[in-house]
Amino acid sequence: MELDACIMGRRSIRSYKDQAVPRDVVNKILSAGSWAPSGMNGQPWRFTIVENREIINKLSRRTKELVTVKMPLPENLQAAFKSDKDVVFYGAPLLILVSVQKSEEWRTVNLLDCGLAAQNMFLAAYQAGLGSCFIGFAAFLNQDPKTLAEIGIPEDHELVAPLIFGYPNETHVSKSREAKVLKWI
Ligand SMILES: Cc1cc2nc3c(=O)[nH]c(=O)nc-3n(C[C@H](O)[C@H](O)[C@H](O)COP(=O)(O)O)c2cc1C
Repeated sequence: MELDACIMGRRSIRSYKDQAVPRDVVNKILSAGSWAPSGMNGQPWRFTIVENREIINKLSRRTKELVTVKMPLPENLQAAFKSDKDVVFYGAPLLILVSVQKSEEWRTVNLLDCGLAAQNMFLAAYQAGLGSCFIGFAAFLNQDPKTLAEIGIPEDHELVAPLIFGYPNETHVSKSREAKVLKWI
C-alpha cells in the first residue's frame, strides 16, 4: 500500500468482526512498533498481547468502574459506561497494551516513544486489512496496579498506549484535514 493512502485511509474503528487476528499478522504489528524511533534508541516500550476474551472483558469492566468513579462523563456516555456492553474495547479480538518502566526524568520521552510505536502499529495493521483504535480510557487501569500485575504488567510500569485491533465491521470515509500551522516564517 502507498504510504499516503495508508496514512490517510486509517481511521479509528469501533466495531469488529468476531474473527481472530492471525499470529503472523500480530507479529507484523509488533515488529512495526519495534521499528519506531525512540529517544537515544532506548526502545522503552513493552507489549502485552491480550487475545483472551474473558480477560479483555474483565479489563473493560474494570476500566468502566474506574472511569465512572473518577470522571464526570456526558450523559450518553454515563449510560453506556453503566451498561454491560464492552464500550471500552468495542468487542475487538486483540488488545495490545504498550507500557513503559516508570521514570520521572524520561517520562515525556517515554510517552512519545510509545506513541510513535503505536502509530507504526496502526499503519501496519491498516496495511494488513485490520482496523484499530487507541483506547485512552483504558489508561485508567494505572490506578489499579493489581489488575495490571495479574496480566503481567509489573507495578513499576506505566500503561501508556492501550490499542485494539481486529477486522473492521464498519467503514469510515476520510474527510480532508487542514495542517494547523501556527506560524510559517
Ligand atoms: C491518546 C488517544 C486516546 C484515545 N482514546 C480513545 C478512547 O478511549 N476511546 C475511543 O473510542 N477512541 C479514542 N481515541 C480515538 C480518537 O477518538 C480518534 O483518533 C479521533 O477521533 C480521530 O479519528 P481517527 O483516528 O479516525 O483519525 C483516542 C485517540 C488518541 C490518540
